[in-house]
Amino acid sequence: MIVTGTDIEFAAKCIVEGNLVAFPTETVYGLGADAFNPLAVARIFEVKQRPTFDPLIVHISEMKQINDLYDSNIDNLVYALAHAFWPGPLTIVHPKSARVPDIVTAGLNTVAVRMPSHPIALQLIRLSGTPIAAPSANRFGLLSPTRPEHVQKQLTNVAYLLENESEMVGVESTVVSIQNGKCILLRPGAISLTDIQKVIPCTAISKDNSNDKIHAPGLLKSHYSPNKPLYILSGDVNNLPLNSGLILHDELKTNTNANRVFCTSETQNAIEIAANLFIALHAMEDDTSVSQIFIESVEETGLGVAIMDRIRKASYRYKLN
Ligand code: TXA
Ligand code: MG
Repeated sequence: MIVTGTDIEFAAKCIVEGNLVAFPTETVYGLGADAFNPLAVARIFEVKQRPTFDPLIVHISEMKQINDLYDSNIDNLVYALAHAFWPGPLTIVHPKSARVPDIVTAGLNTVAVRMPSHPIALQLIRLSGTPIAAPSANRFGLLSPTRPEHVQKQLTNVAYLLENESEMVGVESTVVSIQNGKCILLRPGAISLTDIQKVIPCTAISKDNSNDKIHAPGLLKSHYSPNKPLYILSGDVNNLPLNSGLILHDELKTNTNANRVFCTSETQNAIEIAANLFIALHAMEDDTSVSQIFIESVEETGLGVAIMDRIRKASYRYKLN
């Protein structure tokens, strides 16, 4: 069991001493370490069982910290995006300064940085006096955590787990890369492409989806998976196989033979769906009366793009064809 509580000062002390802290952000829980302490960062990979080719996001609390992380020629597009979306769920990948340890960036010459808007995350970074490298606080490839018990379920060897009262967005930050004057969307997330294009109209979507040359491993085709089969719903909800769980995004209007039904929203509201997506998947994963899960699709506009991205990746290995 991980020790949990609300003592941000103690959590900051853990970070300074090179230990790991799980903490809430506005998107999902993060598993943090001092970004300038390579040994502490190495422990993140160990605890998450994450391959070291998968780089981490560095979290900051003040704009001036980008000067220690990015190289000295920071592109104006970075400032434009930061001005529009920080603090908030946007991660900006940009060429890095030599000070950033290789283990943080998996040896890449770029680093991913974001300023979260969650007050607990911001206070933790401030009190630690250092940027905090943090992936989502789940075991590699498994469901992202939006509640303290989700972190407890998957991780051990974490010094402290900061509890959170407020609801989370539920999908991770949007990741963009700014390089050579170009803005490319690497991972759809809490901020939509349309919102980013309002600031940088020529923002393009990354085409590189291959699993070996990793631009952003969040682009792997399979990710965020529950530990039982998950299928995108295509048939009749009253004709599901025995012991099915059913995740809908609207109130249940008809009968179903599912053992368990979870409605993420009563009105197909994308914000509610995102906030409840991982909660629903964790609940189905934990329910011993459920052997496979069926989930409804959502409309792919705005936040729906990131939601469908997570649903496709979570169900990828169970595709019916
Ligand atoms: O909302 C979030 O972003 C959460 C919270 C905790 O901040 N964090 C998160 O981290 O989702 P993680 O490690 O699960 O996802 C980070 C993504 C990965 O897809 C990673 O490959 C990509 O960011 N990334 C990190 N550094 C990169 C770099 N230098 N170039 C390209 N992609 C990078
Ligand atoms: Mg993750």
